[in-house]
Amino acid sequence: MSVKLTWLGHAALSLEVDDYKVLVDPFLSDNPAASTSQDSVAADYILLSHGHGDHVGDTVAIAKRTGAMVITNAEIAGWISKKGLKAHAQHLGGGYHHPFGYLKLTFAIHGSGLPDGSYGGNPAGFLLTTKAGYKIYMACDTGLFGDMRLIGEEGVDLAVLPIGDNYTMGPDDALRAVKLIQPKHVIPFHYSTWDLIAQDADAWAAQVNTETDAKAHVLKPGESFTLK
Ligand code: NI
Ligand code: MN
Repeated sequence: MSVKLTWLGHAALSLEVDDYKVLVDPFLSDNPAASTSQDSVAADYILLSHGHGDHVGDTVAIAKRTGAMVITNAEIAGWISKKGLKAHAQHLGGGYHHPFGYLKLTFAIHGSGLPDGSYGGNPAGFLLTTKAGYKIYMACDTGLFGDMRLIGEEGVDLAVLPIGDNYTMGPDDALRAVKLIQPKHVIPFHYSTWDLIAQDADAWAAQVNTETDAKAHVLKPGESFTLK
């Protein structure tokens, strides 16, 4: 049983776990780096890390079209439910056994206001343990925090970390994050969507590969990495 992760551009991911399609932060229509479109992407579940527009993105349209269940914090889950869509509310530190695996919401240092000004609770990252035992940490939008070490203690196979700077960790802090988490593999995201967060991911990956035991994988939007 493998896990295939595809970077859809910016912070949007598509995970194929067993027979399930799990989208993360599907910001596609207004995303200049999007590798797919909101009217064709498949989803059984949508994970929403926080309320910002570059993460909520096309969630409502995709959930309407596909009937996907949206998994997010309680405040955003309430906002989703009010639109007549399926939502599963969790909160920071809490995990639940979904059909695709055990998903825990992790701490993130960031904001979470929704695009219409509604209160979006606290931002989160995701720690997914698949039924086959793979552990994937998606930090989502966050600054560096020391408790990434605690997440790493669980034994992370793959970490997906923002490196864009300005809104989230930049390359230097993301490198420190790799040292705290000690994942087997790491993929950068949330960079180069716009000039404001332009970064040299290959240079960052070279540093990761030199200074840590993790193997960095730089994807282009639309490219995949498979844990097997
Ligand atoms: Ni954000
Ligand atoms: Mn963002």
